[in-house]
Amino acid sequence: MVPSLLLFFLLAYTTHNASADDRPNILLLLTDDQDVVLGSFDHMPHLKTHLQDKGVTFENGFVHTPICCPSRSQILTGRYTHHGVAHNNSRSGNCYGDEWIHQIENQHTYAIHAKEAGYHTAYAGKYLNAYGYGDDKKVPPGWDRWFGLVGNSIYYDYSIIEGGIGKNMMVQHHGKDYAKDYLPDLLFNQTMKVLDELPEPWLVVLSWPSPHGPFTPAPWAKDTMAGIKAPRTESYNASSEYQEQKHWLLRQLNPISNSTAAEVDTYYQRRLETLKSVDDHIDKIMSKLDDKGQDPVVVYTSDNGFQFGQHRLAMDKRHLYENDIRVPFVVRGPGIPGPRKWSPIVSNIDIAPTFMDIMGLPEAKEGMDGISFWDYVRGKTDHEFQNRRDLLISYHGEADPHCGMADCPPVYDGVWWMPDSFNNTYNCVRTLAVDDDSIYCRFEDDQSFVEFYDIAQNPHQLANDYPTLNQVERQKYEYRLKELLK
Ligand SMILES: *[C@@H]1O[C@H](CO)[C@@H](O)[C@H](O)[C@H]1NC(C)=O
Ligand SMILES: *[C@@H]1O[C@H](CO)[C@@H](O)[C@H](O)[C@H]1NC(C)=O
Ligand SMILES: *[C@@H]1O[C@H](CO)[C@@H](O)[C@H](O)[C@H]1NC(C)=O
Ligand SMILES: *[C@@H]1O[C@H](CO)[C@@H](O)[C@H](O)[C@H]1NC(C)=O
Ligand SMILES: *[C@@H]1O[C@H](CO)[C@@H](O)[C@H](O)[C@H]1NC(C)=O
Repeated sequence: MVPSLLLFFLLAYTTHNASADDRPNILLLLTDDQDVVLGSFDHMPHLKTHLQDKGVTFENGFVHTPICCPSRSQILTGRYTHHGVAHNNSRSGNCYGDEWIHQIENQHTYAIHAKEAGYHTAYAGKYLNAYGYGDDKKVPPGWDRWFGLVGNSIYYDYSIIEGGIGKNMMVQHHGKDYAKDYLPDLLFNQTMKVLDELPEPWLVVLSWPSPHGPFTPAPWAKDTMAGIKAPRTESYNASSEYQEQKHWLLRQLNPISNSTAAEVDTYYQRRLETLKSVDDHIDKIMSKLDDKGQDPVVVYTSDNGFQFGQHRLAMDKRHLYENDIRVPFVVRGPGIPGPRKWSPIVSNIDIAPTFMDIMGLPEAKEGMDGISFWDYVRGKTDHEFQNRRDLLISYHGEADPHCGMADCPPVYDGVWWMPDSFNNTYNCVRTLAVDDDSIYCRFEDDQSFVEFYDIAQNPHQLANDYPTLNQVERQKYEYRLKELLK
């Protein structure tokens, strides 16, 4: 071989290697408390044109735990709750607790692995509900550019901890001026900035507070959805006949009064109005990326679903019903066909392992409970992902110890009542296969209560179908629960 030709090959080889950075950029877009089966997803036209029309909409996106902090810690690690992540929204429940900080966050998040893989990382927005309170403020490891909200979702009057690898940490306080302080816009502005500044390959997260309470829309969006009402599904304000077949907490609930219904409708409207900002941000972000010729893998999802009067639950999440455990789940990116609607189960715990495959770090999937969908979304056969029949759903009830309920005494007719109790603690197996579309849930309460729904036959989960199961079927689900809880 003549030397010049050899040199050519050497150059070609090293250039290619130096850009082992054909690896895609990654953009995670995360909303807070966004329902998918109760309509919010249908009012986002830019999400449709930029993401759904160009990618895969998963029709069966679930979370392992239908509440913020546990779900968020599962997204960060790909782990089930019983493998060391948060089990409620308090520090004592490992939401930014000691075990999280000292054993999980510094070793097992996708951010840590992204740095190992040579990605440039940035985070803007809500992190974990108990993050950043008190004196021990710090920037979580693994982030080059950090812009994290202290505490839970809110729109005005909050603090941001800003910093990142090699940077000083600063705390900024924000007030009530729309132009300077509206949190969704501030996070969007920060994201636009890092998209200009971060070298490739990058991993960027935008985690909006929207549409979480207090449901504060931007002034330009306020009242644009006036008159819309929360959907009156078949389980809305369900009758006593059905409520009596459910576990202890649901048996305590009164019917939805007219005044509660009116309040819930207003909040339903406000939530959609907060999502108008999110949709506008998606338009601007995707247009910017198009202009730059960048085609990252984009994952759009939420930390849990929501309810608006279903099964007499006025307005919250935390429960095993479909409206709470189902979430929006859209993926677009290089090699991913669109528009497609695909039906296998996908879940929040699959996000971290998928990122590992995208970043070329498959060994880091060790210890994760989720399954990567990176091959599947690019149209390749993936038996592990496609043949998954079920998902573990787990929840630890939160409550005030004085009465065992979220409020003491319980407020029976108030929208702000978070209907929860200590014994609303359950593990379910959510099966979704050609021969079985169901959920089997065992409560950790004094009755070891079981709710079972044959969702194919009983999609609104009205009657409890447990009595229709024979002994063999009961044992089958019990066995599977034990297996999943290992
Ligand atoms: C976001 O950036 C735009 C354009 O620079 C600016 O007009 C707006 O006031 C900013 N919003 C916030 C909350 O910082
Ligand atoms: C609630 O509203 C319905 C429909 O508007 C009405 O028929 C009913 O009388 C109201 N109930 C009460 C207690 O006001
Ligand atoms: C809910 O159902 C009860 C009857 O169980 C009824 O009195 C009440 O008006 C209903 N609430 C709404 C908002 O429709
Ligand atoms: C969260 O979990 C911890 C530990 O199990 C428990 O002590 C605490 O009371 C829980 N918080 C709530 C609000 O239930
Ligand atoms: C659930 O908890 C409440 C409050 O602690 C208690 O009164 C009730 O008996 C419990 N029910 C079951 C079935 O465990």
